[in-house]
Amino acid sequence: MQVNTRKNKNLIAPSILSADFSNIAFEIKRMEEAGADLIHCDVMDGIFVPNITFGPKFVADIRKTTTLPLDVHLMITKPERYIDNFIDAGADYLTIHYEATDVLLPTLENIKKRGVKAGTVISPDTSVEVIKNALVLCDIVLLMSVYPGFGGQKFIESSLKRMEELAALAKAINPNCLIEIDGGVTLENAAAIKKAGTEVLVAGNTVFSSSNPAQTIAQLKSL
Ligand code: DX5
Ligand code: ZN
Repeated sequence: MQVNTRKNKNLIAPSILSADFSNIAFEIKRMEEAGADLIHCDVMDGIFVPNITFGPKFVADIRKTTTLPLDVHLMITKPERYIDNFIDAGADYLTIHYEATDVLLPTLENIKKRGVKAGTVISPDTSVEVIKNALVLCDIVLLMSVYPGFGGQKFIESSLKRMEELAALAKAINPNCLIEIDGGVTLENAAAIKKAGTEVLVAGNTVFSSSNPAQTIAQLKSL
């Protein structure tokens, strides 16, 4: 899959965590038609986070339903064990948590070696500074603005300040690195989130529960 998001820094990634999994092809098609730029896939293992979602088979099946890039967010412990499986399944972006691995740098390198965009994620209690050394290897960096595990949570306000810090650090070290946020994004807070330096908004509940997702995505983009 050709991922051409380099120049566009105003991207919306609907999170399928808020989709009806019994109708996933339709749900993804409806997001594609509504103007989504990426499809955000939340993989949870019940250990790193207190919830379980799906694995590589589901991602491979989703791959068949859309030409949009798949942004696969691994909320699993020791993600290095499953990198190849998710790449084989068709991930275009593969993001792993700083907190979940002892081998962050080599794992990012391995993802990149396979021609996939690599990313690091930090949870709300992790300081931005700790991923400084990883940023040079990141095509994308993701700041969690809720505690990972569930959709539909409330945005943690202190994430704005953290995003300013992260965006400044990432831009200084690796200007090509995309800056993404995940959790509690709404039409009310999206403008402030983008002002803080965010380039990719993950949005689950806000777009999937909208009666007019195309309008909601357009609004999120124009704010
Ligand atoms: C939380 C997930 C998010 C979540 C976002 O662990 O990583 O992607 O689904 O959903 P909303 O936008 O509803 O907070
Ligand atoms: Zn996510």
